[in-house]
Amino acid sequence: MTRHESATAQPPATVRRDARQKVTGEARYAVDRTPPGCLHACPVPAAVARGRVTAVHADEVLRRPGVHAVLTHENAPRLGDADDPTLALLQEDRVPHRGWFVAVVVADTPENARAAADALRIDYAQSEHDVRLRADHPRLYTPEKANGGHPAVRERGDFDTAFAASPVRLDATYTMGALHNHPMEPHAATAWWDDDGLTVYDSSQGATTVRDVLARLFRLPRQQVTVVSAYVGGGFGSKGTPRPPAVLAAMAARHTGRPVRLALPRRDLPATVGHRAPTVQRVRIGAAADGTIEALAHDVVTQTSTVKEFVEQAAVPARTMYTSPHSRTTHRVVALDVPTPSWMRAPGEASGMYALEAAMDELAETVGVDPVELRLRNEPDTEPDSGKPFSSRGLADCLRDGARRFGWADRDPRPGIRRDGDVLSGTGVAAATYPVLVSPSRASAHAAPDGRFVVRVDATDIGTGARTVLAQIAADALGAPLDSVRVELGSSRLPDAPVAGGSSGTASWGWAVHKACAALRATLAADPGRPLPPEGVTVEADTQEEAGRTSPYARHAFGAHFAEVRVDTVTGEVRVSRLLGVYAVGRILNARTARSQFIGGMTMGLGMALTEHSTMDLAFGDFRERDLASYHVPACADVPDIEAHWVDEHDPHLNPMGSKGIGEIGIVGTAAAIANAVHHACGIRFRDLPLTPDRLL
Ligand code: MOS
Repeated sequence: MTRHESATAQPPATVRRDARQKVTGEARYAVDRTPPGCLHACPVPAAVARGRVTAVHADEVLRRPGVHAVLTHENAPRLGDADDPTLALLQEDRVPHRGWFVAVVVADTPENARAAADALRIDYAQSEHDVRLRADHPRLYTPEKANGGHPAVRERGDFDTAFAASPVRLDATYTMGALHNHPMEPHAATAWWDDDGLTVYDSSQGATTVRDVLARLFRLPRQQVTVVSAYVGGGFGSKGTPRPPAVLAAMAARHTGRPVRLALPRRDLPATVGHRAPTVQRVRIGAAADGTIEALAHDVVTQTSTVKEFVEQAAVPARTMYTSPHSRTTHRVVALDVPTPSWMRAPGEASGMYALEAAMDELAETVGVDPVELRLRNEPDTEPDSGKPFSSRGLADCLRDGARRFGWADRDPRPGIRRDGDVLSGTGVAAATYPVLVSPSRASAHAAPDGRFVVRVDATDIGTGARTVLAQIAADALGAPLDSVRVELGSSRLPDAPVAGGSSGTASWGWAVHKACAALRATLAADPGRPLPPEGVTVEADTQEEAGRTSPYARHAFGAHFAEVRVDTVTGEVRVSRLLGVYAVGRILNARTARSQFIGGMTMGLGMALTEHSTMDLAFGDFRERDLASYHVPACADVPDIEAHWVDEHDPHLNPMGSKGIGEIGIVGTAAAIANAVHHACGIRFRDLPLTPDRLL
């Protein structure tokens, strides 16, 4: 048995390769390279929630100092179709929601661009708008698919009859407002045109995808577009699809014949780079007296925009989590005059598992079964919806290990009895799950005569540690020392690769890197004595075949979250005092970066539970919270004693590394664990997130 295969081996905790560049400011982000002659663009958001632009008084601002151009739907370059209507910018006079970009001002400095954009007068023909999501909205409809290609409606057995016949029945509705990703680095791009075509430095989660979309929009062969995303300050899904800065900067550069830089002000993010759609989720569980689930229904109501259909797939995890012989899971959506929702960390699972795991806690209380035990009693033998065997299912291990580490055995289940002065305390648990996703990728591996290696793949390191982990995967596959491997990523000039999204980056890129390196190693081993040619040897790999294949197994990551809270009965403030997660996610490739992913996700879950909230101003049709002073992301003082652990999991049905995705599972179920702890503390069920003081009092 090698050390890596031993049941107790700790994974390596290699330090991030780019740590020094990041902390010294050497790392260059999308707006950190200003080409000579670069102009600066500032977009102008629509000031009405629905209507048409009838006039743009561009001449007034063109007279201002330093202003070079004003782009509107009347003079902007015509775009091709890229299959994403949120990118059909400045093509027509229609305003589909407040904040939609209706003009772009280009000037010699960012300050002049912004001042001119603020001064630009625009006339609108305004129509009535509707931005209010309600569970009884008359225009709700059932889409064909929810996100991820999941059918919007699934039924097994006969839910209505089984629910009516169940000795224990739970029927509860949970709501969540919109949430926003708010990465540290707002979306930005620098673009220029030259004899080679279009080059864009973009803050994105996948330069290959942005390259392909820009090529379609500007009707160019793909080789004439280069997109570089070398360093990215977070994205959480909001940079998973191409965004307006890349398109607008390229349009403005074409229009002016100069390089153009466009950095979105944070205040523009909420309306233009997506949000986690608000949901109203009804969960019904019919159970036997011992808590065994007989009937489970999860009905989700959510919103999309009039620009494109986006359906948060929040009922999907209920299809795979628990024994449920009779099941109905549905999604309904209404197209409102709101900004278009989009991907935000664990889209679907984060919202859906809040509702399902809060309902499981309510069921546990109703039947008088410990909530850890209740989940163990409802472990399915095979994936309920598909009947497929699980490739591995470590939920029970996570629950047991977490309970042991957290000290769950000593818990008194009675709510509302732990008082210390004005403060009530309590503990809660919730399960986590995230699907194992993987996409085909290409990569190349090069051996130089001096014994060094270069691995190339258009992966993106959005702060996750991709540079580091891909080097580890390559060194392992090559049987070479880690420091002999250099990794080049973050440019569409490198072999094509999928986005850093769906917790699939490491699996997708790593598989191709592994394949290229294994092939290179075999090539070198075939002729061990022979010196390499001066130009070295390069091997390319493509995992279209193996990574594109449908698995006969149901593949999911699992986890368990435990939380302890203190609720101030005078101020209504909830403080999390302990947060502990245990994960079963295949092989951990780097303990340091993995832990960082887990606690990052848990922290985001804490925000979802207690502080983060984007509310809609019904009169203006806009999100109110448009900066970090009003959209409350947890700060250090909010984040308690936080621990992430994992159980050993050896799953041979994944990829050559044996890994599952870890970027998103940390946020899944965390809010439910905290909400369940709040109930345990004060004995009241709050079913609307976030649990802000005004709601508790
Ligand atoms: Mo993630 S929401 O798939 O970037």
